[in-house]
Amino acid sequence: MTKRPNNNPKPEAGTAAERFDKPGFAARKVAADLLGNVVFKKRPLDGELDTVSGHSGFRVLAANDRALVRAIVGTALRHRGEIAAVLERLLDRPIPEKTGRILDILHVAIAQMLFMEVPDRAAVSLAVDHAGLDRRARPYKGLVNGVLRRLGREKEEITGGLEPDLLNTPDWLLESWRETFGEDTARMIAKAHQSEAALDLSVKADPEDWARRLDGETVGTGSVRLTKKGAVEALEGFEDGQWWVQDAAAALPARLLGEVTGLEVADLCAAPGGKTAQLAAAGANVTAIDISSARLKRLEGNMARLGLNVRTVAADLRKFEPDAPFDAVLLDAPCSATGTIRRHPDVPWIKQPYDVEKLTEIQRDLLDRVVGWVKPGGLIVYCTCSLETSEGEAQAAAFLERQKGRVTRVDVVPDEVGGLAHLVTNDGYLRCLPCHNAAATGESKGMDGFFAARFKRL
Ligand SMILES: C[S@@+](CC[C@H](N)C(=O)[O-])C[C@H]1O[C@@H](n2cnc3c(N)ncnc32)[C@H](O)[C@@H]1O
Repeated sequence: MTKRPNNNPKPEAGTAAERFDKPGFAARKVAADLLGNVVFKKRPLDGELDTVSGHSGFRVLAANDRALVRAIVGTALRHRGEIAAVLERLLDRPIPEKTGRILDILHVAIAQMLFMEVPDRAAVSLAVDHAGLDRRARPYKGLVNGVLRRLGREKEEITGGLEPDLLNTPDWLLESWRETFGEDTARMIAKAHQSEAALDLSVKADPEDWARRLDGETVGTGSVRLTKKGAVEALEGFEDGQWWVQDAAAALPARLLGEVTGLEVADLCAAPGGKTAQLAAAGANVTAIDISSARLKRLEGNMARLGLNVRTVAADLRKFEPDAPFDAVLLDAPCSATGTIRRHPDVPWIKQPYDVEKLTEIQRDLLDRVVGWVKPGGLIVYCTCSLETSEGEAQAAAFLERQKGRVTRVDVVPDEVGGLAHLVTNDGYLRCLPCHNAAATGESKGMDGFFAARFKRL
């Protein structure tokens, strides 16, 4: 096996330009770049994959190559711990620093070889070409070739005995879930993250009919779940604004405001507007507020497609003051998003405990600020798509303590969340986990991790 860098690699077959033109090469190169940008530069994957403002190499790829990049990077992130463990078994010593993209090139190749239907030969040869084109990685071309060929020959031995669920989750997250939910549930959460989420839609009306038309099933409180993936824009009902994409768990918090027809409702931290759409479709007069003008533009585009009228305000809630109190308030606070790892496999690799601490402080400030924005007797729903109790249960309990005499908790009951009793905690909070069943019957596994608490202003 070749384990040492070869400082004098043999001349290449073909010129650099010819190798760059090889089918599939550009996609692998961009995938390795993106992986490095996410893992080492902590850049969110969604931003890198934006077809307007994302990675310049990604933007110019053809649609099929973009899809391939998304699949490779998603797979490499979802299995990152396992791939690192495989590499550790293959290498005598860690790859030194300042070796260009070598580690990313190896991760991209191994993701394809172990978890995708890509012939080993293609994955290896494109990885070797890539190493040959990168000035700092070039001396390790021989090592890339040797290591990957050996993996191809000895897959079973090299991957034997690995525990994917544990390896693919950073320790601090796993520890936090163990502490909160116990060992078994923590493992089930980690396991759920190994698969992609289904596509859930919220419909304006008649979910059963839309489930039939789109060949899906109804889950949660009337979300339509599709398992077949494809371009969302091409599905029936998209053009004429009959539905929007929203995870079954994300559709629950807005329901906790109950009957909202004719009420003045503030949707705080509203963009891109999944909950705004629910409230507006249910007949509320919605004021949607978000700090990001760009995200608010997306919300406005979404509402225009759906034919829903809402008032939008671009403002930092820490400075904003409403002219008059609202009948009800929904605060979908910024959070670590650890409940959305199935959809955002970059989250475990870009977030740190420090981010959770910082966000917890912002959530606390926002909660304290918005208490006065609702009329006495009005409801406040606070929610986050986080699995961390500091952003959920503990945050809500501390808020109740600080605002004693001003607010009280109004317990969530299973009937409000599609009869899914397992989503309601003993303290009357909503707690969804990625390993939870999204339907009362059947095997509709999986929903985003979400927390919601309901309070009443006294
Ligand atoms: C979890 S996302 C909201 C998702 C949205 N509610 C939905 O259902 O589609 C959090 C939002 O909070 C916004 N945000 C963060 N800090 C804010 C602040 N200080 N004031 C207002 N909005 C803020 C972000 O721009 C982001 O759009």
